[in-house]
Amino acid sequence: MGGKSTTKACFFCFFLFHCTISTDIFPKQALPTKSGYLTVNPASNSAIFYTFYEAQTPTSPPSQTPLLIWLQGGPGCSSMTGNFFELGPWRVVSSFRQNVEHLSLEPNPGFISLDPLFKHRPVYITGESYAGKYVPAIGYYILKQNNELVDSERVNLRGVAIGDGFSDPETQLATHGVTAYYSGLINDKQRDELEQAQWEAIKLVKMEKWSEASNARTKVMDLWQNMTGLATLYDFTKQKPYQTSLVTKFLNINEVKKALGVSESMVFESCSGVVRAAMHEDMMKSVKYMVEALLGNTRVLLYQGLYDVKIGVVPNEAWVKTMKWNGIREFLMADRMICRVNGEVAGYVQKWENLTNVVVLGGGHILPADQPLNSQAMIEGWVLESGLFGGEVKDA
Ligand SMILES: *[C@@H]1O[C@H](CO)[C@@H](O)[C@H](O)[C@H]1NC(C)=O
Ligand SMILES: *[C@@H]1O[C@H](CO)[C@@H](O)[C@H](O)[C@H]1NC(C)=O
Repeated sequence: MGGKSTTKACFFCFFLFHCTISTDIFPKQALPTKSGYLTVNPASNSAIFYTFYEAQTPTSPPSQTPLLIWLQGGPGCSSMTGNFFELGPWRVVSSFRQNVEHLSLEPNPGFISLDPLFKHRPVYITGESYAGKYVPAIGYYILKQNNELVDSERVNLRGVAIGDGFSDPETQLATHGVTAYYSGLINDKQRDELEQAQWEAIKLVKMEKWSEASNARTKVMDLWQNMTGLATLYDFTKQKPYQTSLVTKFLNINEVKKALGVSESMVFESCSGVVRAAMHEDMMKSVKYMVEALLGNTRVLLYQGLYDVKIGVVPNEAWVKTMKWNGIREFLMADRMICRVNGEVAGYVQKWENLTNVVVLGGGHILPADQPLNSQAMIEGWVLESGLFGGEVKDA
């Protein structure tokens, strides 16, 4: 591959002065199949930037190849962080030469991303963290719209997947004290204090004081953070937080903007404070009913990285238990199966009909960054319904 990219670089340099730099920092083979802006509201000139990668080794004709749409959390964080740090085909890496930091792209050993060109391709909505709100909302909207449309116009929604998701704040909030305590991170006295703070937040949710509840939750997290001094609650084994700032630096390099078709005057922010503020009232509202509706109509994958103590396994178990869905009793009684990838324990899979829950070992909140190969095995197994992910549910 190295040889090939050199050839390309040379070829281009005959035509473009800046080419050495641009091919260096953004090799041609790392370019998305397509990237650009999708208009949100022409009146306000608002748009969403996207990158799209066609399947690299499809096992079905393009019109049947699944399309995955990935959404970051926040609220207000950019999916470009996921693209270049977690699950895109190329990831940003940093190296030091003569004390100068050099950023570059390298192929991601895991995930393959897929495509939106074909209208009837099987579509999966996926995302992590606060996308635990967006993913069900988009899926639910598609279900409703599909009901109003003729067959040929419907979106071929085949499932939704949520990683370390924030979907039912009230139930999830109630677990922080026990999670921290039984992980050995805090003592009894601290647990009392943390639980008192979490009950304050829950009380505000029950009163539907959304904005105050959101602030109260932030206080719970700050308190927990202060008590433990961990680098990040998103992975209690890490000595430093996730280095997503690499992506921010990378996407603000002019050559990179040019390669992706972004105006050089744009400043990339990994998370937007403006969006976050606009979503403040929304933060603590539950989307559980949307997930319940989706379970009756399509497949749902929930997955968590074991090391995420913030929005990981324990809060997920807590809210799933409270779901109202025909199959929930059977799901809760189903065995948790050991999942091995290349002979090693990769995690655990629990499944009944349309609901699958996966716990992945060796990773935290930003799971595909920590466990690219096992995350890939999981998402492909689930999409293709193979191995432990196969079973009763047949295509409609
Ligand atoms: C956490 O620590 C910071 C810095 O000491 C302090 O300003 C903040 O008030 C603390 N937050 C809570 C909720 O205890
Ligand atoms: C699972 O989804 C299918 C549609 O794919 C639906 O027909 C079925 O009723 C759902 N099962 C349950 C238990 O909700």
